[in-house]
Amino acid sequence: MQAAGTRGEAARPGTKSSLTVIDNRTGKQYELPIEDNTVRALDFRQIKTGPDDFGLMTYDPAFMNTASCRSSVTFIDGDQGILRYRGYPIEQLAEQCSYLEAAYLLIHGDLPTAVQAAAWSGSIARHAPVPENVKKFLEGFHSDAHPMPMFISTIASLSTFYRSSRDLNDAQERDLTVYRLIGQAPTLAAYAYRHLNGLPYVAPDEEMGYTANFLNMMFKRGERHYAANPSLVRALDILFILQADHEQNCSTNTVRGVGSSRVDPYSAMAGAAAALYGPLHGGANEAVLRMLDEIGTIDRVPAFIADVKGGKRKLMGFGHRVYKNFDPRAAIIKKMADQVFEVTGRNPKLDIALELERIARGDDYFISRKLYPNVDFYSGLIYQALNFPPIFFPVLFAIGRMSGWLAQWLEMLQDPEQKIYRPRQIYTGSDKRIVPQVSQRQ
Ligand code: SDX
Repeated sequence: MQAAGTRGEAARPGTKSSLTVIDNRTGKQYELPIEDNTVRALDFRQIKTGPDDFGLMTYDPAFMNTASCRSSVTFIDGDQGILRYRGYPIEQLAEQCSYLEAAYLLIHGDLPTAVQAAAWSGSIARHAPVPENVKKFLEGFHSDAHPMPMFISTIASLSTFYRSSRDLNDAQERDLTVYRLIGQAPTLAAYAYRHLNGLPYVAPDEEMGYTANFLNMMFKRGERHYAANPSLVRALDILFILQADHEQNCSTNTVRGVGSSRVDPYSAMAGAAAALYGPLHGGANEAVLRMLDEIGTIDRVPAFIADVKGGKRKLMGFGHRVYKNFDPRAAIIKKMADQVFEVTGRNPKLDIALELERIARGDDYFISRKLYPNVDFYSGLIYQALNFPPIFFPVLFAIGRMSGWLAQWLEMLQDPEQKIYRPRQIYTGSDKRIVPQVSQRQ
């Protein structure tokens, strides 16, 4: 990096990977290296107007243009509509892999061999039962509670049972955490559903596949063997794959931020699930179904679109911070919907969703803002066809995303560049003031 203030000759274009900036307040010139198409924010700190000046910071509310980490887990190209886990295109993974294989890929960096896959799913199945006392927590919730806060709090409660998980340097403890959280997320979700519906808990069954076991814990009634339709099991397994990871989204940024304080992993994952619950994030799939219910019939779609264009409503399930083209996951889900409806019967709300998309794809309000269907627009229709109530959709998203949160958390722990998250601010409050006596206060 060139010493501050020296006036280097202007480099020929393309010869140096750096920015040359001039501070017009002082006339000083600085050279800031460009690495991986980024400039380090700390490199701006040297730019000062005098010895008492703290130096320049970068200002980026909501991190619209900030890379917070280096990651090799997931690659997204928003303009091309590309999504890859560890280099494998999401379309191929959805076509050829199970959710547990995709989870293994995210966490271990490559797809498992048959032996590795058997050991992996065996370890996860063995750790699927939750500590017995967790049922007592669930009993404390009213029958009208939202299952997502139940999921968030029971995930956090696991930290009270697995205290040794706080030893983040112990590789075996980290492995156990991965098995427990991927194994117990469906169990906790199913138990919340059973409690809310006054049904007895159905314990995890090691003999069943991951997603079939989840549906068994959810929907088994008096029959000796509940067997969900294999096409529906596969559809849900693919939805879990599609939702498994997505680079530095809001909830993943949260798990990295909370985890950066070196708190136990259960508390960190509960924080991530809390972020996912928001209607702008993973709660959007529930909001889409409510929106379709509110519209009710196809002939009311134009009026709703008018409200959206008037800024009165958002078209839930549309738009994305990164994808300025079709969300590749939405394309896969839309295709899968037809296969699911062959088994369950067509969900009439699909026609309303298709009409919303048809109008939006031809309307400049949406085109100019690059608003296309995202992962949440069609997923809810499939969840509903699988008999999940809309209130439960964000919990399903959290089950799939658990493996991505874990992969990103593990990567953050082992990244030598990472430290506790502690951004700065632009202070806009009062200057120094003297505390007035109570009688003097306005
Ligand atoms: C997920 O980050 C991830 O990767 C998330 C996720 C993952 O896998 O982790 O992909 C999962 O969260 C998908 C997104 C689910 N959320 C929704 O479907 C909620 C509806 N979508 C929007 O709230 C919005 O599109 C966001 C939150 C998804 C993205 O918002 P941005 O990037 O902050 O964009 P913005 O809000 O600044 O909007 C830009 C413009 C605005 O109009 P103007 O002020 O320029 O006139 O587009 C408009 C917005 O009003 N706009 C919408 C809209 N989304 C954006 N207008 C109507 N309906 C919408 N859905």
